[in-house]
Amino acid sequence: MSNSHVKFYSGENIPLELHKTRIVQKLNLVPIERRLEALHEGGFNTFGLKTTDIFLDMLTDSGTNAMSDDQLAAMMRADDAYAGSQSFIRLQKAVKDVLNAQYFLPAHQGRAAENILACAYVRKGSLIPMNYHFTTALAHITEKGGQIVELLYPEAYKIKSVHPFKGNMNLEALEAYIQRHGKERIPYIRMEASTNLIGGQPFSIENFRAVRAIANKHGLRIVLDASLLGENAYLVKQREEEFKNTPLADIIKIMTGLADIIYFSARKLSSSRGGGICTNDESIYKELEALVPLYEGFLTYGGISIREIEAMAVGLYETQDETVISQSPAFIEYLVNEAEKRGISMVTPPGVLGAHVNAMEICSHIPQSQYPAGSLGAAFFLISGVRGMERGSISNQRDEYGNETFADMELLRLAVPRRVFTLSQIMYVLDRLTWLKDNRELIGGLKFVYEPPVLRFFMGRLLPVSDWPEKLMAKFHEDFGDSL
Ligand code: F0G
Repeated sequence: MSNSHVKFYSGENIPLELHKTRIVQKLNLVPIERRLEALHEGGFNTFGLKTTDIFLDMLTDSGTNAMSDDQLAAMMRADDAYAGSQSFIRLQKAVKDVLNAQYFLPAHQGRAAENILACAYVRKGSLIPMNYHFTTALAHITEKGGQIVELLYPEAYKIKSVHPFKGNMNLEALEAYIQRHGKERIPYIRMEASTNLIGGQPFSIENFRAVRAIANKHGLRIVLDASLLGENAYLVKQREEEFKNTPLADIIKIMTGLADIIYFSARKLSSSRGGGICTNDESIYKELEALVPLYEGFLTYGGISIREIEAMAVGLYETQDETVISQSPAFIEYLVNEAEKRGISMVTPPGVLGAHVNAMEICSHIPQSQYPAGSLGAAFFLISGVRGMERGSISNQRDEYGNETFADMELLRLAVPRRVFTLSQIMYVLDRLTWLKDNRELIGGLKFVYEPPVLRFFMGRLLPVSDWPEKLMAKFHEDFGDSL
């Protein structure tokens, strides 16, 4: 059962919640003057804000999905042993039952799994074809001297599209790339389920099967980033004719069955903490095994707290449950469609993880060198208290010569973690976003005042290029009076 199975008499398309809330957290909606101060303190980077100043935290779904009663209950029975804990055995079983993989290596989160894979397989000169990069995956590969190539179809780069699977690998380009460079330099092909940085866009099983066929032909391995696999599988069920009656649990297994190595951030996949790598290939397991005690922790905890291991096991089973997995995509679809109706340019079709606002259009007057998506994120926090995440050029890293590499898309991501926000909160987001769109010319650019060399979007500090935040605040007061 998912929300799409419940129709309203009124004909309205309302994403009905299929859960109830029993533990709540008080939120803070502070005055706009305080929000401006908070922006200065945080270096005009939404990563620098503190939750005491934030109303709706739409930074990410990572570690912020609501947990279930069953997860919390399981955490109480954690078997804290350095080695051989029963909690780990339960997790191993969950990995086998849900992802259909026999061997499992725990890691403290997704990027730790990426580090282990990069240590094991990436060398100077390695080439890794992928549908699209994720920030941390790219950073680990380049740190080891490897290079990535992104092979999406041109449709994927169009903000507005009706293509159901913009995360599909460009098969012709993949074949040509392997032919050109030879398989020796390619340690693996990486497929990211629900391609994060282009707006949480899924790939189809038809496409994945074709990638498998190409990999088989050349004797190459496939690594599946399964961090957002549950939602990708849900959209396969919604959008791929062949699977419309297939249970989510089976779709997930079909997808993992097409990869040689599966890794994930459990912060996303199972609404917990942690991460891991799994495979059915014993030789792969042996290649990776020694790296876990070296970088993470012993093989039966991998740097994850045992309580979280229990939550992860239960959370993995819950990724098979459509009432759990459909909620976030259904709310995102509602938010995207309603925003579009109000004339706000969004990435379409709606994807997973969050709604993605097209900053290139709203801030078309801001050059990429002044970071339109970062500027929009700061402006939106100022006028609403809603924290989103820049997914544009600030999130890109400079090239090997230190030049800016401007992003293909300048997006403000408004994450909708699983079962966290209510529909009236989504209405508030829409309301303030519409106001900002109507006052878009008041938004100005940003410049770096501190730029770390790696993953600069996390710790970087910026300043507005003019006094535009003050002007935006004045207009807010003019239109909203003393409203928060
Ligand atoms: N792969 C994907 C597709 C991700 O979205 C993330 C994290 C990771 C790997 C890394 O996992 O954070 O556990 O180390 N995405 C978060 C986000 C940070 O906000 O999109 P991690």
